[in-house]
Amino acid sequence: MKIAIIGSGNVGAALGAHWAAAGRSVVFGVRNPAAEKAQAAVAKAPGSRAATVAEAAAEAEVVVLTTPWGDATKEALDACGDLAGKIILDCTNPVNQTFDGLSLGLTTSAGEQVQAWAPQAKVVKIFNTTGSNNMENPDYGGRGATMLYCGDDPVAKETAATLAAEIGFEPADVGPLTQSRFLEPLAMLWISMALRYGYGREIAFQLLRR
Ligand SMILES: NC(=O)c1ccc[n+]([C@@H]2O[C@H](COP(=O)([O-])OP(=O)(O)OC[C@H]3O[C@@H](n4cnc5c(N)ncnc54)[C@H](OP(=O)(O)O)[C@@H]3O)[C@@H](O)[C@H]2O)c1
Repeated sequence: MKIAIIGSGNVGAALGAHWAAAGRSVVFGVRNPAAEKAQAAVAKAPGSRAATVAEAAAEAEVVVLTTPWGDATKEALDACGDLAGKIILDCTNPVNQTFDGLSLGLTTSAGEQVQAWAPQAKVVKIFNTTGSNNMENPDYGGRGATMLYCGDDPVAKETAATLAAEIGFEPADVGPLTQSRFLEPLAMLWISMALRYGYGREIAFQLLRR
């Protein structure tokens, strides 16, 4: 499975390192493949490489969106070219500029907007409800943090769950892509707890069942 990770920042680098270690083909799609940030991500993901967004997306079956919300994500999707039939793992959160709320939500979501921007792709919302530190290391006392995900295509969701499990998360399917309306506020809850309300970043949500 060929994976294009669009963006080589906190989230892109953390995810890419795991998948490269698991033997996946990983290409970081970035604006400047020679830039220090892109090369640092490549160094953390042995066997990976950096390319333009168009090159990375063209050869990938799975495109992982790890760009800032808004124009950046729209621009990145446009730069990807034809995404028909490809799986998009949307990790974005529509966090506002003051980092204390969301710029859209509850009656729609970034996940649904991504699907509208790339109507022929199969979008799964995933890797948005926890910090990149937990993507680097999801282990909490021998158990993986829960990774909630949603989407409308069963095969795309299965792929997303496989890739989450490879990182060490416990994946949990929470339903159709409209559930992004609730996953994105949950991300805001994690952000506010971690950064404003005293918990710090070494926290993660765990789904309990009985
Ligand atoms: N950080 C977290 O803990 C976390 C957790 C869950 C979800 N998220 C979400 O994941 C996304 C990425 O977060 P991050 O912390 O990884 O951000 P980041 O470190 O700032 O990295 C963002 C990446 O996107 C690239 N980018 C920006 N504009 C672009 C464009 N127009 N076209 C192509 N690439 C572009 C940047 O490239 P340049 O280097 O060229 O600027 C950079 O590689 C955000 O939507 C965020 O809300 C973050």
